[in-house]
Amino acid sequence: MKQTDDHINVAIDGPAGAGKSTVAKLVAERLGYIYIDTGAMYRVVAYKALASGISPDDTAEAVRTAESIRIELRPGMQRQQVWADGKDVTDVIRSASVTSNVSAFAANPGVREILARKQQEMARKKGVVMDGRDIGTHVLPDAEVKVYLTATVEKRAERRFNELPDGTMSMEELREDIARRDDMDRNREHSPLVQAEDAIRIDSTYMTIEEVTESILDICSNVMNQGVEQNE
Ligand code: CDP
Repeated sequence: MKQTDDHINVAIDGPAGAGKSTVAKLVAERLGYIYIDTGAMYRVVAYKALASGISPDDTAEAVRTAESIRIELRPGMQRQQVWADGKDVTDVIRSASVTSNVSAFAANPGVREILARKQQEMARKKGVVMDGRDIGTHVLPDAEVKVYLTATVEKRAERRFNELPDGTMSMEELREDIARRDDMDRNREHSPLVQAEDAIRIDSTYMTIEEVTESILDICSNVMNQGVEQNE
């Protein structure tokens, strides 16, 4: 029991390109925690469904895909490796077709329920840093630390542009894709993207990755120290 008592869960939510995955991975490394990229899980469902000719409008088939798929997140050197049914799908889930369809699959309440349950199971023993859209509001409402990480849409498009291999998408295409996904994620009925009431908002527009990481680590150590004081 003692071991899990010492650990906390950290939820990092926010719109596309705010830097969540980079920062969440670094925070997890520094704390010795497990990093869980929930966006990758939605991308796997979208990838598998599209590969089987299932469109986001085929809601029942999309749910069946989410139900049947075995998703594994494995630590990697640069970024987390994503495996689906025993195959490495780390790169293919970042393709333009998956990116432009993923929010439509993620609006499906049945798909969300299945993935949220898997995510809750992964966080049960605590000691996870989980990034997504609905972690602090819906998946882990009791997370000890909740951060809402945001930045202007221009800055987010610029960051994505610098991350992607040359020629994948233009800056303007990225800006449009991000704005469209933000809009769908914010306006869907089931667990939309919204800042949790008890989340700390960080605007990363003018901050470096190191600065954002340090701010989140500070929040975590404050919460952990409070926990220690309360136990004394
Ligand atoms: O990395 P990027 O910000 O482009 O997106 P992602 O984190 O890979 O997530 C891809 C999509 O999955 C988002 O645009 C959302 O539509 C959906 N998603 C979600 O609905 N809920 C989550 N917890 C995580 C992702």
